[in-house]
Amino acid sequence: MPVYQTVKEMTGALAAARRGGLSIGLVPTMGALHEGHASLIRAACAENDYVVVSVFVNPTQFAPAEDLSAYPRDLEKDRRLAEAIGARAVFAPSVEEMYPEGDSTWVEVGGRLTGLLCGRSRPTHFRGVTTVMTKFFNIIRPDRTYFGQKDGQQAQVMRRLLTDLFLPVELKILPIVREKDDLALSSRNIYLSEDERRAALVLSRSLKEARGRLENGERSRAAILDGLKNAVQSEPLAVLDYAEIYNFPDLGETGAELSGQVFIGLAVKFSRARLIDNIVVDLG
Ligand code: PAF
Repeated sequence: MPVYQTVKEMTGALAAARRGGLSIGLVPTMGALHEGHASLIRAACAENDYVVVSVFVNPTQFAPAEDLSAYPRDLEKDRRLAEAIGARAVFAPSVEEMYPEGDSTWVEVGGRLTGLLCGRSRPTHFRGVTTVMTKFFNIIRPDRTYFGQKDGQQAQVMRRLLTDLFLPVELKILPIVREKDDLALSSRNIYLSEDERRAALVLSRSLKEARGRLENGERSRAAILDGLKNAVQSEPLAVLDYAEIYNFPDLGETGAELSGQVFIGLAVKFSRARLIDNIVVDLG
């Protein structure tokens, strides 16, 4: 399976696929593919004739002090995994290819959606994601694109972007894939020490506890948030970045009494990793 590194090669291959009447699926990634990405590629292969997996560690979505240079990279391993599932091409452009000399256009989803949750801790992050994704949508022109609910806010930002720019791409959002012990899969899990790997279970465990309390009739937003914050704060290796509750899927404000579908999101910092996780609970 080919790895295309230039826009010209990639669009040439796509033109041939389109002439053959093939539908096109895009699974955008930053590489270091794991079973979460595999589930996206599998869904894409089931629904499209020609699946492109993009592998690009996008510098514009990292702030200067973040992990851009440390971010894990293994293109050959990623290529083999994508191929084994049935993808037809990997698109792995260089930074210069995506942001050539003189590049000066940003695509930004404004308003409150990009200012809350991860947007509060990483104020320039989503602008980088929406800029690079607009480039990918224009290069690949996919019929469908696949995102994970693990980055639940990112998925809603994508919905906003596609809607607002009338981009004719169908957005598919797939469930979080977890390790046997419930840790959400993330390329950043490799930054955890052995002790932190154990401590990181505080994310899924406290979210499960919150779900349990809601299922038992608790409706107080403050009580659920206190439970989450206390759980994370009782874990010595973990530092709480945020615990938040919003309505789902629009991520609008909830009342003091929770109802309908709610999104509960957590971000927790360890020495080298900042991990996120979330659950959606339907309160009817
Ligand atoms: O979720 C990611 O891996 C990235 O944010 C994405 C969507 C590939 C854009 O760089």
